Amino acid sequence: MSWFPGRRRDMGLSRLGKELLPERRGRRINKHRLSHLVLLILVIFVFCLGASGLNLILHGKIERKNSSTQAARGLRMESDVGSPRKSKHRRKYFPCEVGLLDSVDNLVEPTTFVEFAKFSLQYVDREDNSSLIPRFAGHQTLDERELSFNARNQTLHCGFVKGPVGSFSTGFDLEEKDKNFMNQCKIAVSSCIFGSSDFLRRPTSKQISAYSKSNVCFVMFVDQATLYTLASEGNVPDENGNIGLWRIVVVKSLPYEDMRRTGKVPKFLAHRLFPSSRYSIWLDSKMRLNTDPMLIIENFLWRTRSEYAISNHYVRHCVWEEVLQNKRLNKYNHRAIDEQLMFYQSDGLVKFNATDPNTPLPSYVPEGSFIVRAHTPMSNLFSCLWFNEVDRFTSRDQLSFAYTYLKLKRQNPERLFRLNMFKDCERRALLKLFHHRESPSPPNAI
Ligand SMILES: *[C@@H]1O[C@H](CO)[C@@H](O)[C@H](O)[C@H]1NC(C)=O
Ligand SMILES: *[C@@H]1O[C@H](CO)[C@@H](O)[C@H](O)[C@H]1NC(C)=O
Ligand SMILES: *[C@@H]1O[C@H](CO)[C@@H](O)[C@H](O)[C@H]1NC(C)=O
Repeated sequence: MSWFPGRRRDMGLSRLGKELLPERRGRRINKHRLSHLVLLILVIFVFCLGASGLNLILHGKIERKNSSTQAARGLRMESDVGSPRKSKHRRKYFPCEVGLLDSVDNLVEPTTFVEFAKFSLQYVDREDNSSLIPRFAGHQTLDERELSFNARNQTLHCGFVKGPVGSFSTGFDLEEKDKNFMNQCKIAVSSCIFGSSDFLRRPTSKQISAYSKSNVCFVMFVDQATLYTLASEGNVPDENGNIGLWRIVVVKSLPYEDMRRTGKVPKFLAHRLFPSSRYSIWLDSKMRLNTDPMLIIENFLWRTRSEYAISNHYVRHCVWEEVLQNKRLNKYNHRAIDEQLMFYQSDGLVKFNATDPNTPLPSYVPEGSFIVRAHTPMSNLFSCLWFNEVDRFTSRDQLSFAYTYLKLKRQNPERLFRLNMFKDCERRALLKLFHHRESPSPPNAI
C-alpha cells in the first residue's frame, strides 16, 4: 500500500540513504565537536551536583532556528525564561544533529514494514462483574497481567474499560464529532493539557509541510477548565475547533483525579484514540513542535526500521538513580515508589550496566516527553503494557519503561520489538522546550 499516492517513485530507501551520505560526512566534525562539548558539560554538571545536591529541573530554554536540517548550525541558547530563581547550577543541554531529509517530497514508506511481528490484539471493552467499581483501566489480575506480556493473539486491558451496562462512565469521554474526526486520522500528532498546567504552544507552522497540514491530524486534548483558561488568554477555537494547527478536543469526566496520570491516557494510548492511524507522535505540552511530522517518522522509524522510538534521559540511565531522583524531588509517594521497584526487582529488573556490550538498551531511563510510534501489534502491545504499569503502580513512567521493555523481550524471544532509543539531544533539535506553566505538587507526595 502506498502511503503517498502519486508520489511513489521508483526509489527505495537505500537510495535515499545514499543521497544523504555526502552531506553527512561533512557534518561529522561538527557532531564530534558537539559531543565533546556535551561530555564536558556533563562532567561539570556531575561535579556541581555532587558538591551541592541541588535540584535538577533542567529544561533549559533552547531555541533552534533555521530549517529542520540545520539543527546544529542554528543552535542558540537562552537562559531560563519565566523562572525567577536563577541557579548557577542549572545546566544547559544542547540539541545535536539530526539528519532529517530536506523535504517530504518523494518520501516512500519502506515496504519491509511487513517484517514486524504479526498478531492480533483486542482490548477488554467491558467488565461485567457488578461487585467491582468500574474504572477506566479495568481490574486486571496479576495472572492476566503476566499473560498479557505474551506477544500473540489476545484480548488485554488497555484503558477505556466500561463497567456493567447502565453503570457510570469510566471517563475520557469525547464528543461524537471529535471521535469521528479522530477515527479517520491516518497519522496523528497529539499532546494534552489537563488542569491548566501549561500554555498552548502551536506547532511552528512554517516548518510543517503542506502535505502534513492536510494529511496529519494535530490533536490537543484538554479538559473543560483548561479550555476556559486558554479562552481567557485569547486562545479560542475557531468554528472547526482549531487553534492554529491544533484541533482542540475536550475530554469530559477525567478518569483519574491526578491530572498527570490522566495525561498518560493520550500519551500511551494513541492507537486506541486514533484507531485507524498507522503512525503517531506524542509530545509533551512543554514543547513546541518545530519539525515536520513526516520527516520525524522517516528519520526515527522508517530509516531505522523501527516501530517505536523514544529518547533516552539526558543524564540518568539507571532506574535506581531515577528512583532516588523522584524521591529527592518528592515526585511521588516514596512507599509506592519502593513497592514498585521491589516488585520489578523480584521479577528480574537489574541495574543498568553501561559497560556490558550486550546491554539491551542505551539507557533504562527514557525521556518520555516525545514518542514516535508505528501502530504495529508489538508497538501497540508495548503501549498497553506500559500504560497498565502506570495504572497499577506509580504514574512515574520512567520507572516502568525498562522493566516493561525487558519483560516483553524476555517473554517473547522469537518476536522482536524494534525499539529505537535515540539521544535526548536529538529530541531537543526537533522541538522547542519551555518550562511548564507551574508545577502543582502531585497528590500523595510525602
Ligand atoms: C467479581 O469480583 C469479585 C471481587 O474481586 C470477585 O471475588 C469475584 O470472583 C468476581 N466475579 C466474577 C464472576 O468474576
Ligand atoms: C491470530 O489472529 C489472526 C487475525 O485475527 C488470524 O489470522 C490468526 O490465524 C490468529 N493466529 C492464531 C495462532 O490463532
Ligand atoms: C557489567 O558488564 C561487564 C561486561 O559484561 C561485566 O564485566 C561487569 O561485571 C558488569 N557489572 C555489573 C555490576 O554487573
